[in-house]
Amino acid sequence: MAIEGQLNEVERRLITEAITQAAKKPVVAIEVGTWLGGGSTLHILRALELNGAGHLWGIEADRSIYQRMLANIREAFPAAENRFTPLFGFSDDVLKRWKTEQPTNTIVDFVFLDGGNNPREQIEEFELLDPLIPLGGQLLSHDAKIRKGRWLVPYISRLDNWESRLHDVSENGLFYAKKIAARPSSQSLRAAKWHLFRQACHPGEIAASYLPSSVCGFALRLLPKKFSRKLSDGKN
Ligand SMILES: C[S@@+](CC[C@H](N)C(=O)[O-])C[C@H]1O[C@@H](n2cnc3c(N)ncnc32)[C@H](O)[C@@H]1O
Repeated sequence: MAIEGQLNEVERRLITEAITQAAKKPVVAIEVGTWLGGGSTLHILRALELNGAGHLWGIEADRSIYQRMLANIREAFPAAENRFTPLFGFSDDVLKRWKTEQPTNTIVDFVFLDGGNNPREQIEEFELLDPLIPLGGQLLSHDAKIRKGRWLVPYISRLDNWESRLHDVSENGLFYAKKIAARPSSQSLRAAKWHLFRQACHPGEIAASYLPSSVCGFALRLLPKKFSRKLSDGKN
């Protein structure tokens, strides 16, 4: 049965191969933003199943989407009971709670970030998970070329303990990163933080963060549709 999901065929293949071709089979995988389950969630689960190892925790913040995703995954992936734990809520709350519920030495081998459009969220998700990611651990994120990924992609790219590349395989872009050292040098961390600070100070981001969404929505509705969509997604 085909269930609804995002990501194109190449992106789905790249996610699958990151798991099936990993030097060490991922044991703990976490994704943010399952949507209806047929994209990243199903493909991560199938890849773990091919490996014969690993468990996915999938976070989704929208209640009705979450319920539909549960039904979809149950139907499309019979082994879900053993391989999948869905988590309802916003990523920052869920990840903080999830971390307190795991054994102290828990590591996270595989991360896929594809939640909300605010670029701050992927940074927060990264900061919560990074300490648990071991050498060789992999992080992929979607919408790397648009507003959602606009802070995380340059941030990780500047950290010299991550090897990273942008797969320019869709309009939105898929970012890939692998941890190659436990900690970044202080110089690269400073460069990453400085760049992040400058992005956070961009007038457009300040307006998006502090103006009520009703004001932003009103302003966007005044613009021609094509232009307002570009602005809200941060497409160039
Ligand atoms: C672009 S869709 C994800 C697509 C999915 N990865 C796929 O491959 O089909 C983004 C999803 O993230 C959810 N979301 C948005 N903000 C979130 C957050 N802070 N925490 C968890 N989920 C979030 C949305 O409800 C939506 O279902």
